[in-house]
Amino acid sequence: MKHYRIAAIPGDGIGAEVIGAGIEVLKALARRDGGFAMEFESFDWGSDYYHQHGVMMPADGLEQVADFDALYFGAVGAPDVPDHVTLWGLRLAICQSFDQYANVRPTRILPGIEGPLRGVGPDRLDWVIVRENSEGEYAGQGGRSHRGLPEEVATEVAIFTRSGVTRIMRFAFELARSRPRKKLTVVTKSNAQRHGMVMWDEIAAEVAAEYPDVEWGKELVDAMTMRMTLRPETLDTIVATNLHADILSDLAAALAGSLGIAPTSNLNPERRFPSMFEPIHGSAFDITGKGIANPIGTFWTGTLMLDHLGEPEAATRLMRAVERVTADHAFHTPDLGGEATTRKVTDAVVAAIDGDNE
Ligand SMILES: NC(=O)c1ccc[n+]([C@@H]2O[C@H](COP(=O)([O-])OP(=O)(O)OC[C@H]3O[C@@H](n4cnc5c(N)ncnc54)[C@H](O)[C@@H]3O)[C@@H](O)[C@H]2O)c1
Repeated sequence: MKHYRIAAIPGDGIGAEVIGAGIEVLKALARRDGGFAMEFESFDWGSDYYHQHGVMMPADGLEQVADFDALYFGAVGAPDVPDHVTLWGLRLAICQSFDQYANVRPTRILPGIEGPLRGVGPDRLDWVIVRENSEGEYAGQGGRSHRGLPEEVATEVAIFTRSGVTRIMRFAFELARSRPRKKLTVVTKSNAQRHGMVMWDEIAAEVAAEYPDVEWGKELVDAMTMRMTLRPETLDTIVATNLHADILSDLAAALAGSLGIAPTSNLNPERRFPSMFEPIHGSAFDITGKGIANPIGTFWTGTLMLDHLGEPEAATRLMRAVERVTADHAFHTPDLGGEATTRKVTDAVVAAIDGDNE
């Protein structure tokens, strides 16, 4: 029997609530499957850890999780710790050190969920956004001088390397090729950002030559927001820089019904390091502790983790259970306009897994 070791890092706010639910569901799935086992070890890193130790995770934190098969991450962010401290101290520290350069964000309207776009159902909105996850605007380049003085200056430098752009383009073309429509949209801003983004476009065209079976095109990021909203059916696989995709994927999540259902994976495709799987949403202070966090994004994220581990059948079974549950409005949490609790949705998904005879 295969045995997977997963490092759970619930983090802050609703992170603990949704990761707890996700672990329950994945354990039920492994039981139902019978062909593999999942062992979870939990790490209490995050803002509470920061208050006690002055850091978001211990100095040897990366070593502690380096040998796990995957990381299952909740969210970071607390009202009393600056966001750049929490983000850089934990989530980005892991993504960058483990070279998780491909951030993959599937977006679909699930059964029973009504998105805000009139007349747009699953047949018109089925995307995967690939976010470059190692460089661009979040590479950490820049600085501040003359702090507090009137002449203070701050720079935030976007970094684009030929190797970094080439590898994410190849990843995106491969993913586009694996999907039925074989269609890729490269998001850019090369009209205004005339160095990095022009190189980005040039490399996209070079890599495209290796994929003659993939239909591809470019879209400026500002026009992309309109196209996602007004002509969602014209999109399939999408690749964008770290910042552009960060913003576009929140829009995508909202257009698919709620941020609470959106999943993501941070992949090191070469598997030199463990990859990390997390719901897109943050720690959601406004609903923390109320027991109403939507766990669907975390469950869907679990399917991405199972696919990555090499358990596609279990991933399909879990997605089937999730879709069976979302189809019933009685299991919609308040973000979807319902009254269900995290507990109720989790129990329903576990029951759907146990009762799945396909
Ligand atoms: N990956 C991450 O760890 C991550 C991502 C985004 C934001 N953050 C952090 O989270 C904190 C809060 O940020 P924010 O408010 O901008 O974003 P957020 O995603 O936490 O919340 C945005 C809105 O969506 C709702 N929401 C989010 N997830 C939900 C769920 N599962 N179920 C129901 N409703 C849900 C929240 O209640 C809130 O109204 C900040 O500190 C921010 O830095 C962390």
